[in-house]
Amino acid sequence: MQPDGKLREIRVGLIGCGVVGGGLVKMLARHAGQLAANGLAFRVTHVAVRDTAKSRGVDLSGARVCANPMDVAADPDINMLVEVMGGNDIAVIAACAALTRGIPLVTANKHALARSLPRYLEAAGGRVPIGFEAAVAAHIPIIEVLEHSLGCEDLTLVKGVINGSTNYILTFMERAGCEYDAALADAAAKGFTEADPTLDVEGFDAAEKLSLLALKAFGTPVALERMHIEGVTNIRQVDIRLALELEHRIKLVAAARRVDGGLSLRVHPALVHRGELLADVDSEFNAIILEGPGFNQLTFLGKGAGELPTASAVLNDMVKIARGGTGQLPGIDRGPALPLADTGNLRLCYFLRMRAEAADSSALVASLEGMGLKVLSIARTTLDETNYLGVITDVVEESRMVGLLPGIRALPQVKGDLALLRLDKDNYRDIVEREQSAYFGASLKRQPGPRI
Ligand SMILES: NC(=O)c1ccc[n+]([C@@H]2O[C@H](COP(=O)([O-])OP(=O)(O)OC[C@H]3O[C@@H](n4cnc5c(N)ncnc54)[C@H](OP(=O)(O)O)[C@@H]3O)[C@@H](O)[C@H]2O)c1
Repeated sequence: MQPDGKLREIRVGLIGCGVVGGGLVKMLARHAGQLAANGLAFRVTHVAVRDTAKSRGVDLSGARVCANPMDVAADPDINMLVEVMGGNDIAVIAACAALTRGIPLVTANKHALARSLPRYLEAAGGRVPIGFEAAVAAHIPIIEVLEHSLGCEDLTLVKGVINGSTNYILTFMERAGCEYDAALADAAAKGFTEADPTLDVEGFDAAEKLSLLALKAFGTPVALERMHIEGVTNIRQVDIRLALELEHRIKLVAAARRVDGGLSLRVHPALVHRGELLADVDSEFNAIILEGPGFNQLTFLGKGAGELPTASAVLNDMVKIARGGTGQLPGIDRGPALPLADTGNLRLCYFLRMRAEAADSSALVASLEGMGLKVLSIARTTLDETNYLGVITDVVEESRMVGLLPGIRALPQVKGDLALLRLDKDNYRDIVEREQSAYFGASLKRQPGPRI
Protein backbone atom coordinates (compact mmCIF):
# COMPACT_ATOMS: atom_id res chain seq x y z
CA MET A 1 0.00 0.00 0.00
CA GLN A 2 1.27 3.48 -0.82
CA PRO A 3 1.27 6.23 1.85
CA ASP A 4 -1.97 7.59 0.33
CA GLY A 5 -3.59 4.14 0.80
CA LYS A 6 -3.67 3.39 -2.93
CA LEU A 7 -2.47 0.10 -4.40
CA ARG A 8 0.91 0.17 -6.06
CA GLU A 9 0.28 -0.62 -9.73
CA ILE A 10 2.87 -2.74 -11.53
CA ARG A 11 2.37 -2.70 -15.28
CA VAL A 12 3.74 -5.95 -16.57
CA GLY A 13 5.04 -6.66 -20.04
CA LEU A 14 4.69 -10.39 -20.68
CA ILE A 15 6.78 -12.05 -23.38
CA GLY A 16 5.27 -15.48 -24.02
CA CYS A 17 1.84 -16.71 -23.02
CA GLY A 18 2.11 -20.48 -23.36
CA VAL A 19 2.24 -23.01 -20.51
CA VAL A 20 4.02 -20.75 -18.00
CA GLY A 21 2.76 -17.35 -19.23
CA GLY A 22 -0.84 -18.62 -19.36
CA GLY A 23 -0.42 -20.09 -15.87
CA LEU A 24 0.86 -16.74 -14.63
CA VAL A 25 -2.15 -14.84 -16.00
CA LYS A 26 -4.43 -17.33 -14.20
CA MET A 27 -2.50 -16.98 -10.95
CA LEU A 28 -2.55 -13.18 -11.08
CA ALA A 29 -6.35 -13.33 -11.34
CA ARG A 30 -6.63 -15.98 -8.63
CA HIS A 31 -4.41 -14.09 -6.17
CA ALA A 32 -5.57 -10.53 -6.98
CA GLY A 33 -7.26 -10.19 -3.59
CA GLN A 34 -4.26 -11.37 -1.60
CA LEU A 35 -1.93 -9.19 -3.66
CA ALA A 36 -4.19 -6.18 -3.07
CA ALA A 37 -4.15 -6.91 0.65
CA ASN A 38 -0.39 -6.49 0.38
CA GLY A 39 -0.72 -3.24 -1.52
CA LEU A 40 0.05 -4.62 -4.98
CA ALA A 41 -1.92 -4.55 -8.21
CA PHE A 42 -0.25 -6.32 -11.12
CA ARG A 43 -1.72 -5.45 -14.54
CA VAL A 44 -0.52 -7.32 -17.60
CA THR A 45 -0.64 -4.48 -20.10
CA HIS A 46 1.36 -5.73 -23.10
CA VAL A 47 1.84 -9.33 -24.27
CA ALA A 48 3.95 -10.83 -27.05
CA VAL A 49 3.10 -14.21 -28.56
CA ARG A 50 3.96 -15.84 -31.85
CA ASP A 51 0.36 -16.31 -32.98
CA THR A 52 -1.81 -13.34 -31.94
CA ALA A 53 -4.98 -15.03 -33.25
CA LYS A 54 -4.64 -18.15 -31.07
CA SER A 55 -7.25 -18.62 -28.35
CA ARG A 56 -5.46 -19.09 -25.01
CA GLY A 57 -8.17 -19.72 -22.45
CA VAL A 58 -6.96 -16.84 -20.27
CA ASP A 59 -8.21 -13.28 -19.93
CA LEU A 60 -5.91 -10.88 -21.79
CA SER A 61 -8.61 -8.26 -22.28
CA GLY A 62 -6.63 -5.57 -20.44
CA ALA A 63 -3.53 -6.05 -22.58
CA ARG A 64 -2.29 -5.17 -26.01
CA VAL A 65 -1.28 -8.39 -27.76
CA CYS A 66 1.49 -8.25 -30.35
CA ALA A 67 3.85 -10.62 -32.13
CA ASN A 68 7.09 -8.74 -31.49
CA PRO A 69 8.84 -9.24 -28.12
CA MET A 70 10.84 -6.05 -28.71
CA ASP A 71 7.63 -3.98 -28.77
CA VAL A 72 6.91 -5.21 -25.24
CA ALA A 73 10.49 -4.77 -24.01
CA ALA A 74 10.60 -1.18 -25.34
CA ASP A 75 7.09 -0.21 -24.15
CA PRO A 76 7.58 3.00 -22.09
CA ASP A 77 4.45 2.18 -20.08
CA ILE A 78 5.63 -1.09 -18.45
CA ASN A 79 7.59 -1.15 -15.21
CA MET A 80 8.31 -4.89 -15.03
CA LEU A 81 9.14 -7.43 -17.74
CA VAL A 82 8.37 -11.15 -17.49
CA GLU A 83 10.06 -13.34 -20.10
CA VAL A 84 8.51 -16.80 -20.41
CA MET A 85 8.98 -17.28 -24.13
CA GLY A 86 12.07 -19.47 -24.10
CA GLY A 87 14.76 -19.72 -26.76
CA ASN A 88 17.91 -17.71 -26.93
CA ASP A 89 18.55 -14.82 -29.32
CA ILE A 90 15.32 -12.79 -29.27
CA ALA A 91 14.73 -13.55 -25.59
CA VAL A 92 18.18 -12.21 -24.65
CA ILE A 93 17.91 -9.09 -26.82
CA ALA A 94 14.45 -8.23 -25.47
CA ALA A 95 15.34 -8.91 -21.82
CA CYS A 96 18.56 -6.90 -22.03
CA ALA A 97 16.80 -4.01 -23.79
CA ALA A 98 14.37 -3.74 -20.88
CA LEU A 99 17.13 -4.07 -18.25
CA THR A 100 19.13 -1.33 -19.94
CA ARG A 101 16.09 0.94 -19.53
CA GLY A 102 16.03 0.08 -15.82
CA ILE A 103 13.03 -2.28 -16.05
CA PRO A 104 13.27 -5.24 -13.61
CA LEU A 105 13.14 -8.67 -15.21
CA VAL A 106 11.61 -11.96 -14.07
CA THR A 107 12.53 -14.89 -16.28
CA ALA A 108 12.00 -18.65 -16.39
CA ASN A 109 14.38 -18.99 -19.34
CA LYS A 110 17.43 -20.90 -18.01
CA HIS A 111 18.66 -21.51 -21.53
CA ALA A 112 19.05 -17.82 -22.35
CA LEU A 113 20.25 -16.81 -18.88
CA ALA A 114 22.86 -19.56 -18.52
CA ARG A 115 24.27 -19.04 -22.00
CA SER A 116 24.23 -15.23 -22.06
CA LEU A 117 24.75 -14.39 -18.38
CA PRO A 118 27.41 -11.67 -18.98
CA ARG A 119 25.01 -9.81 -21.28
CA TYR A 120 22.26 -9.85 -18.64
CA LEU A 121 24.67 -8.68 -15.94
CA GLU A 122 26.02 -5.90 -18.10
CA ALA A 123 22.52 -4.72 -19.05
CA ALA A 124 21.41 -4.81 -15.40
CA GLY A 125 24.49 -2.77 -14.46
CA GLY A 126 24.46 -4.03 -10.87
CA ARG A 127 21.31 -2.04 -10.07
CA VAL A 128 18.30 -3.49 -11.92
CA PRO A 129 16.89 -6.65 -10.28
CA ILE A 130 16.58 -9.96 -12.11
CA GLY A 131 14.49 -12.78 -10.61
CA PHE A 132 15.05 -16.25 -12.02
CA GLU A 133 13.75 -18.71 -9.43
CA ALA A 134 11.51 -20.39 -12.02
CA ALA A 135 14.49 -21.10 -14.28
CA VAL A 136 15.96 -23.68 -11.87
CA ALA A 137 13.82 -26.57 -10.63
CA ALA A 138 10.65 -24.47 -11.06
CA HIS A 139 8.87 -24.44 -7.73
CA ILE A 140 11.72 -25.59 -5.47
CA PRO A 141 12.76 -22.21 -4.00
CA ILE A 142 16.44 -23.06 -4.20
CA ILE A 143 17.74 -19.80 -5.63
CA GLU A 144 16.09 -17.85 -2.82
CA VAL A 145 17.63 -20.22 -0.25
CA LEU A 146 21.11 -19.84 -1.76
CA GLU A 147 20.71 -16.08 -2.10
CA HIS A 148 19.27 -15.29 1.31
CA SER A 149 18.92 -18.18 3.77
CA LEU A 150 22.45 -19.50 3.06
CA GLY A 151 23.96 -16.32 1.71
CA CYS A 152 26.83 -16.39 4.23
CA GLU A 153 27.56 -20.14 4.17
CA ASP A 154 30.67 -21.64 2.61
CA LEU A 155 28.83 -24.29 0.64
CA THR A 156 30.75 -27.41 -0.32
CA LEU A 157 28.24 -29.21 -2.53
CA VAL A 158 25.15 -28.52 -4.63
CA LYS A 159 23.89 -31.69 -6.20
CA GLY A 160 20.64 -32.84 -7.66
CA VAL A 161 18.37 -34.54 -10.09
CA ILE A 162 17.22 -31.43 -11.92
CA ASN A 163 15.94 -32.57 -15.29
CA GLY A 164 12.46 -34.05 -15.20
CA SER A 165 12.47 -35.42 -18.77
CA THR A 166 15.53 -37.62 -18.31
CA ASN A 167 14.34 -38.68 -14.88
CA TYR A 168 11.03 -39.73 -16.41
CA ILE A 169 12.87 -41.67 -19.14
CA LEU A 170 15.15 -43.51 -16.68
CA THR A 171 12.25 -44.30 -14.35
CA PHE A 172 10.20 -45.59 -17.29
CA MET A 173 13.09 -47.79 -18.52
CA GLU A 174 13.32 -49.33 -15.07
CA ARG A 175 9.57 -49.92 -14.63
CA ALA A 176 8.76 -51.04 -18.18
CA GLY A 177 12.00 -52.97 -18.71
CA CYS A 178 12.42 -51.28 -22.09
CA GLU A 179 15.28 -49.65 -23.96
CA TYR A 180 15.95 -45.89 -24.16
CA ASP A 181 14.14 -45.26 -27.49
CA ALA A 182 10.84 -46.69 -26.23
CA ALA A 183 11.08 -44.66 -23.01
CA LEU A 184 11.85 -41.47 -24.98
CA ALA A 185 8.81 -42.10 -27.20
CA ASP A 186 6.60 -42.51 -24.12
CA ALA A 187 8.00 -39.31 -22.55
CA ALA A 188 7.33 -37.40 -25.79
CA ALA A 189 3.78 -38.78 -26.05
CA LYS A 190 3.04 -37.63 -22.48
CA GLY A 191 4.50 -34.15 -23.04
CA PHE A 192 7.54 -34.63 -20.81
CA THR A 193 10.02 -33.63 -23.54
CA GLU A 194 10.36 -30.73 -25.94
CA ALA A 195 9.73 -31.27 -29.68
CA ASP A 196 13.53 -31.45 -29.95
CA PRO A 197 14.60 -33.37 -26.83
CA THR A 198 18.35 -32.86 -27.42
CA LEU A 199 18.84 -30.26 -24.70
CA ASP A 200 17.25 -32.56 -22.12
CA VAL A 201 18.61 -35.99 -23.07
CA GLU A 202 22.17 -34.82 -23.80
CA GLY A 203 22.38 -33.21 -20.34
CA PHE A 204 22.48 -29.56 -21.48
CA ASP A 205 19.29 -28.50 -19.70
CA ALA A 206 20.63 -29.88 -16.41
CA ALA A 207 24.00 -28.22 -17.11
CA GLU A 208 22.34 -24.85 -17.70
CA LYS A 209 20.53 -25.14 -14.36
CA LEU A 210 23.70 -26.32 -12.62
CA SER A 211 25.63 -23.31 -13.91
CA LEU A 212 22.97 -21.00 -12.39
CA LEU A 213 23.04 -22.94 -9.11
CA ALA A 214 26.85 -22.76 -9.00
CA LEU A 215 26.71 -19.03 -9.65
CA LYS A 216 24.50 -18.55 -6.59
CA ALA A 217 26.21 -21.17 -4.39
CA PHE A 218 29.86 -20.38 -5.14
CA GLY A 219 29.76 -17.00 -6.89
CA THR A 220 31.46 -18.68 -9.81
CA PRO A 221 30.10 -18.15 -13.32
CA VAL A 222 30.93 -21.21 -15.43
CA ALA A 223 30.51 -21.40 -19.20
CA LEU A 224 28.88 -24.64 -20.33
CA GLU A 225 31.88 -25.45 -22.53
CA ARG A 226 33.97 -25.79 -19.37
CA MET A 227 31.69 -28.31 -17.69
CA HIS A 228 31.74 -32.08 -18.00
CA ILE A 229 28.37 -32.91 -19.61
CA GLU A 230 27.05 -36.36 -20.51
CA GLY A 231 23.42 -37.27 -21.18
CA VAL A 232 21.41 -40.47 -20.91
CA THR A 233 21.26 -41.56 -24.55
CA ASN A 234 23.79 -44.37 -24.05
CA ILE A 235 22.08 -45.91 -21.02
CA ARG A 236 20.82 -49.40 -21.81
CA GLN A 237 18.35 -51.68 -20.10
CA VAL A 238 21.21 -53.95 -19.09
CA ASP A 239 22.83 -51.08 -17.15
CA ILE A 240 19.62 -50.44 -15.23
CA ARG A 241 19.26 -54.13 -14.39
CA LEU A 242 22.86 -54.56 -13.29
CA ALA A 243 22.67 -51.37 -11.23
CA LEU A 244 19.56 -52.72 -9.46
CA GLU A 245 21.33 -56.02 -8.81
CA LEU A 246 24.07 -53.96 -7.19
CA GLU A 247 21.51 -52.01 -5.06
CA HIS A 248 21.76 -48.84 -7.15
CA ARG A 249 19.52 -46.84 -9.48
CA ILE A 250 20.73 -44.78 -12.41
CA LYS A 251 19.99 -41.05 -12.30
CA LEU A 252 21.19 -38.05 -14.28
CA VAL A 253 23.06 -36.27 -11.50
CA ALA A 254 24.24 -32.66 -11.72
CA ALA A 255 26.84 -31.71 -9.12
CA ALA A 256 28.91 -28.65 -8.29
CA ARG A 257 31.46 -29.57 -5.63
CA ARG A 258 34.22 -27.67 -3.87
CA VAL A 259 37.34 -29.84 -4.22
CA ASP A 260 41.08 -29.39 -3.78
CA GLY A 261 42.03 -27.03 -6.54
CA GLY A 262 38.68 -25.29 -6.94
CA LEU A 263 35.24 -26.20 -8.15
CA SER A 264 34.16 -29.30 -10.05
CA LEU A 265 31.01 -29.10 -12.18
CA ARG A 266 29.65 -32.27 -13.75
CA VAL A 267 26.44 -33.59 -15.25
CA HIS A 268 26.33 -37.29 -16.05
CA PRO A 269 24.37 -40.46 -15.41
CA ALA A 270 25.44 -41.96 -12.09
CA LEU A 271 24.68 -45.03 -10.02
CA VAL A 272 23.00 -43.81 -6.84
CA HIS A 273 22.88 -46.24 -3.92
CA ARG A 274 19.31 -47.18 -2.99
CA GLY A 275 19.88 -45.94 0.55
CA GLU A 276 20.30 -42.37 -0.76
CA LEU A 277 17.40 -39.97 -1.14
CA LEU A 278 18.32 -39.12 -4.73
CA ALA A 279 17.71 -42.76 -5.67
CA ASP A 280 14.03 -42.36 -4.77
CA VAL A 281 13.39 -39.26 -6.87
CA ASP A 282 11.21 -40.54 -9.68
CA SER A 283 9.61 -39.35 -12.89
CA GLU A 284 9.18 -35.59 -13.25
CA PHE A 285 10.27 -34.79 -9.70
CA ASN A 286 13.44 -32.83 -8.92
CA ALA A 287 15.60 -32.97 -5.82
CA ILE A 288 18.51 -30.80 -4.74
CA ILE A 289 20.97 -31.49 -1.90
CA LEU A 290 23.09 -28.76 -0.35
CA GLU A 291 26.04 -29.35 1.95
CA GLY A 292 28.10 -26.94 3.99
CA PRO A 293 29.95 -26.99 7.33
CA GLY A 294 27.48 -24.64 9.00
CA PHE A 295 24.37 -26.74 8.43
CA ASN A 296 25.67 -30.15 7.30
CA GLN A 297 23.02 -31.13 4.76
CA LEU A 298 19.71 -29.82 3.41
CA THR A 299 17.47 -31.57 0.91
CA PHE A 300 14.76 -30.10 -1.30
CA LEU A 301 12.23 -32.17 -3.23
CA GLY A 302 9.46 -30.97 -5.51
CA LYS A 303 8.04 -30.61 -8.97
CA GLY A 304 10.62 -29.23 -11.33
CA ALA A 305 8.19 -28.21 -14.08
CA GLY A 306 4.55 -27.70 -14.95
CA GLU A 307 2.18 -24.80 -15.52
CA LEU A 308 1.31 -23.74 -11.98
CA PRO A 309 4.53 -24.75 -10.15
CA THR A 310 6.55 -22.67 -12.62
CA ALA A 311 4.09 -19.78 -12.80
CA SER A 312 4.00 -19.68 -9.01
CA ALA A 313 7.81 -19.28 -8.88
CA VAL A 314 7.53 -16.43 -11.43
CA LEU A 315 4.78 -14.73 -9.44
CA ASN A 316 6.71 -14.93 -6.18
CA ASP A 317 9.73 -13.27 -7.82
CA MET A 318 7.44 -10.54 -9.19
CA VAL A 319 6.09 -9.90 -5.70
CA LYS A 320 9.55 -9.81 -4.11
CA ILE A 321 10.80 -7.29 -6.66
CA ALA A 322 7.63 -5.20 -6.46
CA ARG A 323 8.08 -5.02 -2.70
CA GLY A 324 11.55 -3.56 -3.16
CA GLY A 325 13.61 -6.77 -3.20
CA THR A 326 16.84 -6.79 -5.13
CA GLY A 327 16.13 -9.96 -7.14
CA GLN A 328 18.59 -12.83 -7.25
CA LEU A 329 20.90 -11.13 -9.73
CA PRO A 330 23.23 -9.41 -9.22
CA GLY A 331 22.55 -10.66 -5.66
CA ILE A 332 24.94 -11.49 -2.85
CA ASP A 333 28.70 -11.26 -3.42
CA ARG A 334 30.42 -14.55 -2.52
CA GLY A 335 33.93 -13.26 -3.10
CA PRO A 336 36.32 -14.16 -5.89
CA ALA A 337 35.25 -16.89 -8.31
CA LEU A 338 36.81 -20.31 -7.68
CA PRO A 339 39.06 -21.84 -10.32
CA LEU A 340 37.65 -24.88 -12.12
CA ALA A 341 39.17 -28.18 -11.02
CA ASP A 342 40.57 -30.66 -13.54
CA THR A 343 37.99 -33.48 -13.87
CA GLY A 344 40.78 -35.97 -14.57
CA ASN A 345 42.02 -35.59 -10.98
CA LEU A 346 38.67 -36.53 -9.40
CA ARG A 347 38.66 -39.77 -7.44
CA LEU A 348 35.44 -41.75 -7.86
CA CYS A 349 34.05 -45.28 -7.76
CA TYR A 350 33.15 -46.69 -11.19
CA PHE A 351 30.69 -49.16 -12.69
CA LEU A 352 31.88 -51.28 -15.61
CA ARG A 353 29.38 -53.19 -17.74
CA MET A 354 30.51 -55.83 -20.20
CA ARG A 355 29.39 -58.91 -22.05
CA ALA A 356 30.95 -61.74 -20.05
CA GLU A 357 30.11 -65.15 -18.58
CA ALA A 358 29.36 -65.57 -14.89
CA ALA A 359 31.79 -68.49 -14.88
CA ASP A 360 34.57 -66.02 -15.75
CA SER A 361 33.79 -63.63 -12.90
CA SER A 362 36.61 -64.78 -10.59
CA ALA A 363 39.13 -64.56 -13.43
CA LEU A 364 37.77 -61.13 -14.38
CA VAL A 365 38.11 -59.84 -10.81
CA ALA A 366 41.68 -61.20 -10.69
CA SER A 367 42.50 -59.52 -14.02
CA LEU A 368 41.06 -56.17 -12.89
CA GLU A 369 42.90 -56.36 -9.58
CA GLY A 370 46.06 -57.20 -11.53
CA MET A 371 45.58 -53.85 -13.27
CA GLY A 372 45.32 -52.14 -9.88
CA LEU A 373 41.52 -51.85 -9.80
CA LYS A 374 39.97 -53.06 -6.56
CA VAL A 375 36.58 -54.70 -7.22
CA LEU A 376 33.99 -54.05 -4.50
CA SER A 377 30.93 -55.71 -6.02
CA ILE A 378 30.04 -57.75 -9.06
CA ALA A 379 26.65 -58.79 -10.45
CA ARG A 380 25.39 -60.69 -13.46
CA THR A 381 22.32 -60.57 -15.63
CA THR A 382 21.07 -62.09 -18.85
CA LEU A 383 19.26 -60.02 -21.45
CA ASP A 384 18.10 -61.31 -24.86
CA GLU A 385 20.06 -64.50 -24.19
CA THR A 386 23.28 -62.55 -23.73
CA ASN A 387 25.18 -62.69 -20.44
CA TYR A 388 26.53 -59.56 -18.84
CA LEU A 389 28.59 -58.73 -15.79
CA GLY A 390 28.56 -55.42 -13.92
CA VAL A 391 31.44 -54.46 -11.66
CA ILE A 392 31.82 -51.67 -9.11
CA THR A 393 35.39 -50.57 -8.41
CA ASP A 394 36.89 -48.82 -5.42
CA VAL A 395 37.90 -45.17 -5.83
CA VAL A 396 40.31 -44.42 -8.60
CA GLU A 397 41.40 -41.25 -10.37
CA GLU A 398 39.24 -40.50 -13.40
CA SER A 399 42.18 -40.06 -15.80
CA ARG A 400 43.64 -43.41 -14.65
CA MET A 401 40.29 -45.20 -15.04
CA VAL A 402 39.83 -43.88 -18.56
CA GLY A 403 43.42 -44.86 -19.39
CA LEU A 404 42.74 -48.44 -18.25
CA LEU A 405 39.74 -48.95 -20.56
CA PRO A 406 41.64 -50.26 -23.64
CA GLY A 407 43.37 -52.86 -21.43
CA ILE A 408 40.04 -53.91 -19.88
CA ARG A 409 38.45 -54.21 -23.33
CA ALA A 410 41.28 -56.54 -24.36
CA LEU A 411 40.87 -58.92 -21.37
CA PRO A 412 40.02 -62.50 -22.42
CA GLN A 413 36.94 -62.53 -20.14
CA VAL A 414 35.45 -59.41 -21.81
CA LYS A 415 33.46 -60.39 -24.90
CA GLY A 416 32.35 -56.87 -25.86
CA ASP A 417 29.87 -54.08 -24.97
CA LEU A 418 32.19 -52.48 -22.42
CA ALA A 419 30.71 -49.34 -20.87
CA LEU A 420 31.79 -47.11 -17.99
CA LEU A 421 29.54 -45.18 -15.62
CA ARG A 422 30.36 -43.32 -12.42
CA LEU A 423 28.98 -43.84 -8.96
CA ASP A 424 27.36 -40.83 -7.37
CA LYS A 425 29.46 -41.23 -4.22
CA ASP A 426 33.05 -42.18 -3.51
CA ASN A 427 32.28 -44.06 -0.27
CA TYR A 428 30.93 -47.31 -1.72
CA ARG A 429 33.60 -49.32 0.14
CA ASP A 430 32.09 -48.06 3.46
CA ILE A 431 28.62 -49.15 2.33
CA VAL A 432 29.85 -52.64 1.38
CA GLU A 433 31.74 -53.02 4.64
CA ARG A 434 28.74 -51.82 6.66
CA GLU A 435 26.42 -54.21 4.81
CA GLN A 436 28.80 -57.11 5.29
CA SER A 437 29.32 -56.54 8.99
CA ALA A 438 25.53 -56.24 9.47
CA TYR A 439 25.07 -59.40 7.43
CA PHE A 440 27.66 -61.42 9.30
CA GLY A 441 26.28 -60.14 12.58
CA ALA A 442 22.90 -61.64 11.65
CA SER A 443 23.92 -64.83 9.91
CA LEU A 444 26.93 -66.42 8.32
CA LYS A 445 25.41 -67.16 4.95
CA ARG A 446 27.38 -64.76 2.80
CA GLN A 447 31.11 -64.67 2.16
CA PRO A 448 33.08 -61.42 2.11
CA GLY A 449 34.49 -60.15 -1.14
CA PRO A 450 32.84 -59.30 -4.45
CA ARG A 451 29.19 -60.25 -4.73
CA ILE A 452 27.70 -62.29 -7.54
N1 LIG B 1 6.87 -25.49 -18.99
C1 LIG B 1 7.55 -25.68 -17.87
O1 LIG B 1 7.19 -26.53 -17.04
C2 LIG B 1 8.75 -24.85 -17.56
C3 LIG B 1 9.43 -25.04 -16.34
C4 LIG B 1 10.55 -24.24 -16.03
C5 LIG B 1 10.96 -23.29 -16.95
N2 LIG B 1 10.28 -23.14 -18.15
C6 LIG B 1 10.77 -22.14 -19.08
O2 LIG B 1 9.74 -21.16 -19.30
C7 LIG B 1 9.81 -20.67 -20.63
C8 LIG B 1 8.45 -20.86 -21.30
O3 LIG B 1 8.13 -22.22 -21.33
P1 LIG B 1 6.67 -22.70 -21.75
O4 LIG B 1 6.59 -24.15 -21.40
O5 LIG B 1 5.64 -21.79 -21.24
O6 LIG B 1 6.75 -22.58 -23.35
P2 LIG B 1 5.55 -22.55 -24.39
O7 LIG B 1 4.34 -23.18 -23.82
O8 LIG B 1 6.09 -23.05 -25.68
O9 LIG B 1 5.23 -20.98 -24.55
C9 LIG B 1 6.09 -20.12 -25.23
C10 LIG B 1 5.33 -18.82 -25.50
O10 LIG B 1 6.21 -17.92 -26.15
C11 LIG B 1 5.61 -17.47 -27.38
N3 LIG B 1 6.68 -17.29 -28.36
C12 LIG B 1 7.59 -18.20 -28.77
N4 LIG B 1 8.42 -17.67 -29.68
C13 LIG B 1 8.00 -16.39 -29.86
C14 LIG B 1 8.44 -15.33 -30.68
N5 LIG B 1 9.48 -15.46 -31.52
N6 LIG B 1 7.80 -14.16 -30.60
C15 LIG B 1 6.75 -14.00 -29.77
N7 LIG B 1 6.28 -14.97 -28.96
C16 LIG B 1 6.91 -16.14 -29.01
C17 LIG B 1 4.63 -18.54 -27.78
O11 LIG B 1 3.65 -18.01 -28.61
P3 LIG B 1 2.45 -18.95 -29.19
O12 LIG B 1 1.65 -19.37 -28.00
O13 LIG B 1 1.69 -18.06 -30.11
O14 LIG B 1 3.13 -20.09 -29.88
C18 LIG B 1 4.12 -19.00 -26.42
O15 LIG B 1 3.07 -18.17 -26.00
C19 LIG B 1 10.96 -21.44 -21.29
O16 LIG B 1 12.13 -20.68 -21.19
C20 LIG B 1 11.08 -22.69 -20.45
O17 LIG B 1 12.38 -23.25 -20.47
C21 LIG B 1 9.20 -23.89 -18.46
